[in-house]
Amino acid sequence: MASAPQQKIALVVGGSNGIGRAIAAKLTAANVVTYIAGRNLAKCQGVAQELGLGGVFEVDVASQESVHRLVRAVQERLTRVDILVLSAGANVDARSTTADGVELQFAVTHLWRFQLTAAAAAGGLLAPGARVLSVSGSSGVDLGLVDFADPMLARPNAWSFFKAQGQAHKLNDVLCIQAQRRWGADANIQFHAAYPGQVASNSDGSIEGPLLVQILNRVTSPIKLKPEASAAQLVPILLEPLGAEGGKLWSVSQFGDTVTELKVPAKVADDDYGKKCWDLSNSFINEKWK
Ligand SMILES: NC(=O)c1ccc[n+]([C@@H]2O[C@H](COP(=O)([O-])OP(=O)(O)OC[C@H]3O[C@@H](n4cnc5c(N)ncnc54)[C@H](OP(=O)(O)O)[C@@H]3O)[C@@H](O)[C@H]2O)c1
Repeated sequence: MASAPQQKIALVVGGSNGIGRAIAAKLTAANVVTYIAGRNLAKCQGVAQELGLGGVFEVDVASQESVHRLVRAVQERLTRVDILVLSAGANVDARSTTADGVELQFAVTHLWRFQLTAAAAAGGLLAPGARVLSVSGSSGVDLGLVDFADPMLARPNAWSFFKAQGQAHKLNDVLCIQAQRRWGADANIQFHAAYPGQVASNSDGSIEGPLLVQILNRVTSPIKLKPEASAAQLVPILLEPLGAEGGKLWSVSQFGDTVTELKVPAKVADDDYGKKCWDLSNSFINEKWK
């Protein structure tokens, strides 16, 4: 008698709110044993109870030590991860640095994704056939190039929210393409990055950002998607043949109901540029937490 197919196991980092939470709900409804990780353990536990999740993990993505501990904890508690969703993020309204000395927007938008992706893929946490989705990509244009001379935007007047977010999104796109080249074929892991659309998910104000962003958020609110609508377009990348081949960038449709594959911008596709970006990201991870 043929045995029943094994249930897939998913980890959604940033699953306590917004798009990550909606993805966790949809994965659970699709019979995937889903765990979430977040900075507020009590909130995560409440979400887990409400959605019937497999469990929760604690992580502060602004801390490299915390991300390192998350990888260890997942390795100890889960046999494998088939689906990894990277959704945690926040908009900051002024330049500051983390305890690791990294510019905060760079840390919470990009660097934890780099650290976790590299540790999970290289450390055997991801099962063969696993899919990784970073919910934070650019919308497929070659804007927001990386400031290699001053990536922490530390020079006087160098920092702006848009510059900080722009280069972090660019690095997330590059991470997807470079990770696919490193682990796609050999480890059979498929990497994706998606722009989730304009989504009304900042229910608790955690993604407010600078005044201009707040104003833009309010102006665009009538056309904003609900997190569930964004998640409905993203989940097929994780479960259906659509996402079987990685190294792809996607954009959620603001007015339709199907996610669109984006053309990979020339800079993001360029291997020399990609390796330079990879080395840059890697240089900001403390050896202790790799
Ligand atoms: N919403 C949009 O229109 C939009 C557009 C482009 C890109 N994005 C990106 O899409 C992703 C999801 O956004 P969203 O709209 O779902 O935002 P959200 O509703 O504010 O949810 C963000 C999630 O990240 C978690 N988080 C924030 N800082 C964290 C930290 N230091 N450590 C651990 N977890 C942390 C939050 O935890 P708490 O529950 O504890 O707050 C929450 O679970 C973000 O990366 C965002 O930048 C969103």
